[in-house]
Amino acid sequence: MAYLLGYDIGSSSIKATLLEAETGNVVASFTSPEDTELDMAVPEPGWAEQDPENWWKHIKAATAGIKNKARVNLHDVKAIGVAYQMHGLVLVDKDLQVLRPAIIWCDSRAVQIGEEAFQALGPEKCLRHLLNSPGNFTASKLKWVKENQPEIYRQVYKFMLPGDFIAMKLTGEVKTTVSGLSEGILWDYLQQRPADFLLDYYGISPDLLPEITPLFSVQGEVTQQAADELGLAPGTKVSYRAGDQPNNAFSLSVLSPGEVAATAGTSGVVYGICDQPLYDKESRVNTFVHVNHTTDNPSYGVLLCVNGTGILNRWLKNTLAGVTYKEMDQMALEEAPPGSAGLFFYPYGNGAERTLGNKNLGAALYGLDLNVHSRPHLLRAAQEGIVFALNYGVEIMKQMGLEVDTVKAGRANMFLSPLFREVFAMVTGACVELYNTDGAQGAARGAGVGAGIYRDSKEAFVGLTPAGVTEPDAAKAAQYKEIYQEWAAILKKLLS
Ligand code: XUL
Repeated sequence: MAYLLGYDIGSSSIKATLLEAETGNVVASFTSPEDTELDMAVPEPGWAEQDPENWWKHIKAATAGIKNKARVNLHDVKAIGVAYQMHGLVLVDKDLQVLRPAIIWCDSRAVQIGEEAFQALGPEKCLRHLLNSPGNFTASKLKWVKENQPEIYRQVYKFMLPGDFIAMKLTGEVKTTVSGLSEGILWDYLQQRPADFLLDYYGISPDLLPEITPLFSVQGEVTQQAADELGLAPGTKVSYRAGDQPNNAFSLSVLSPGEVAATAGTSGVVYGICDQPLYDKESRVNTFVHVNHTTDNPSYGVLLCVNGTGILNRWLKNTLAGVTYKEMDQMALEEAPPGSAGLFFYPYGNGAERTLGNKNLGAALYGLDLNVHSRPHLLRAAQEGIVFALNYGVEIMKQMGLEVDTVKAGRANMFLSPLFREVFAMVTGACVELYNTDGAQGAARGAGVGAGIYRDSKEAFVGLTPAGVTEPDAAKAAQYKEIYQEWAAILKKLLS
């Protein structure tokens, strides 16, 4: 029997999934940590760091969990794929030892550095070449280290993304992809090469960049040491890596212009495919290289991110509710009316929000009436507010010319909530299609493509099953759109 193994390195947990290659059936999944969430250090307000070696520790725990559950010989794993939290910065020295904690995607320390670069290099030049402002992404984070921790910077042999680090731990090779470079704002779309002019401006040597490897390809083989640590066979192929959002789209077979994928985990993302290098002039939504991009057949993903999505729901669960997510969903749906009787939630508060021009607004409640609102209103306002915040970005995507008619999502996280799905469909006007899949499964299927076990992406989706559709309904849509307009008008006030 041939198996495929997918890892998803999230910010709150690491998930591993084992698939049977032939049928696409899930043999076992394991998430580590099991009952808690990964630590995230906040050394200063707005910063967010994680220890890359801790990801590896949980990769080991998740792989052991799979082995126990599945009772298969992991030597039969033919290929491994890696999906990972995007835009982070991992630094290693020449012995491939980690030099400092990873500065992760929602860490806002580099906002000003990116904004200054955008202005100094010229917005027009940046947008034409990079399709984005350097913003608060990986290149700007590295510049922060150069400026603020020169003693560490001097020891840097290579910098990389979280997924590149895990692939390095597996294979001993330091590589990245074009898609990966694009998510760090290190890819020049016009020149089809690394963004030398930005590196030059930041004073970063191109020697610090990893070698580029095709996203679907044998990128390396599991070393003896990694094999011993994980219980895999040495020589197992690592044949796919992608940022968690492009990977989510791939998991849902969202690969062609006009198709749209979404997630609502720690962060919430809507990700639309186009074959033109579209960009938002203010970089409130971002354009990256999609997994299936080639020079002859360009494929881009336009991504809007709301940092404070599942993390807000989790905060409510921990802080207020004392109930399960399921109970929270039910209470919000059944015990409070649409619009939460005038209570508006602004789901920010997890770092600089790109859709708000990288402002770190903080989460906010508006219109709280102590005589009217109770727990169900708060829970409903949070779900509505998250959808409204996503829709705020969807409107920017629509202005750029993207169509958002059908949105595909995995049956996971906040898409498990019927209320969330309903509000999403009504406000965006899109039909929401759910599928029984997730990022770790997608990474396993990607590995199958990269290793040539599947002939193409179509064959890789054997076994992908639909799990329900939510259609927009005219009367409800009109009601929710009105509520959204009020919510957006108050957001404008909060931003001014
Ligand atoms: C996407 C983004 C987040 C992270 C979460 O641009 O920053 O969704 O990828 O892991």
